Amino acid sequence: MKHIVSIEDLDKKSIMDILKRAKELLPVAKGKKKSKALDGKILATCFFEASTRTRLSFESAIHRLGGNCIGFADPSSTSHLKGETLADTIRMVAAYSDAVVLRHPKEGSAKLAAEVSDIPIINGGDGAGQHPTQTLLDLFTINDEIGKLEGLKVGMLGDLRYGRTVHSLSKALDRFKTEFFFISPEILAMPEYVTDELENKWSTHEGLEDVLGELDILYVTRIQKERFPDIEDYKKVANAYIVNAELLRNANSKLKILHPLPRVSEIATDVDDTAHASYFRQAFNGVPVRMALLEKLIGETK
Ligand code: CP
Repeated sequence: MKHIVSIEDLDKKSIMDILKRAKELLPVAKGKKKSKALDGKILATCFFEASTRTRLSFESAIHRLGGNCIGFADPSSTSHLKGETLADTIRMVAAYSDAVVLRHPKEGSAKLAAEVSDIPIINGGDGAGQHPTQTLLDLFTINDEIGKLEGLKVGMLGDLRYGRTVHSLSKALDRFKTEFFFISPEILAMPEYVTDELENKWSTHEGLEDVLGELDILYVTRIQKERFPDIEDYKKVANAYIVNAELLRNANSKLKILHPLPRVSEIATDVDDTAHASYFRQAFNGVPVRMALLEKLIGETK
C-alpha cells in the first residue's frame, strides 16, 4: 500500500513503469477494449474544490477497468457542513472504498489524509501544493508528443507561485536533465523551495518573447485567482500573458504547448488548431495514466 501525496512518492523507475503501462492501456481508455482488472474495487473521489478533468478522468479510469466509484464533488452535501473534520471524513470514506482521490483547497491536506488512512490516498491537488497525477499525465504527454523526456528545454509560464502543477512537474522533470525557463510576473515567481532543490539549469524571465525560440515545451498556466489573498494583486497580473497564433510565429516549429486546463485567456483559441497545441490530448491522457496508477495501487498484480 502506498500513498501518492507528492511526486517524490514515485521514483523514476515507477514513473516510467506507469507511463509504459498507460500506453498499453490506451485502447481500454478509449473504450475499444474491455478490462476487468479492477473488478470489485471501489474508488472514492472526495472533491472539496472544483474540478472537471481530475475527478471525471479518475472516475472514467476506474469504470474502464471494471471497478466502481463513490464520492462527492460538492462538500456542502456531506457532513463537512455539520463540522466533521477532514480526518474523520477520510476515516469514514476509507472504510467504504479501496482508494481515495482527495482534492482540497488546503496545502498539506493530502498528507494529513494519508496519516489517518489505511488505504491509498491520492492527492488530486492540495491548494498551491502539488498535483502529482497531473504530473504523470504531463510527462506521458511530453514523451508522446516529443518522443523523449530527457534533455528538453521547458518553459513554464504564468502563475508559478500558486500553480501546483508546475511545482510537481519541475520536481519530476529535474530527474530528466531538463533546462527550465520560468516565465512569470515577479510576484508569481516559482517558490524558492522548488528552485532550491533543482539540480539542472534554470533561469527566470518576465517576457516570453525573449526565450520562446529556444523552447521544446511551453507549459502555460492559469493565474490562480482563487488563491490571491488580495484581489487587487490579482487584477494587476490577470492578463499578464496571452499566447496567440501571431506570437507563435517566433516559436520553434516543433514547440508543443501544454496547459493543465482550465484556461481562461492565457491561450487564445486561435492556437487550438495549430500544430503546437497539445493541451486537449494532454487532458485525455489523464484517463490511461490514472488507470495505470490505479492498477499499480489497488490491482491484484501490483
Ligand atoms: N488539470 C486539472 O486539475 O483540471 P481540473 O481542475 O478540472 O481537475
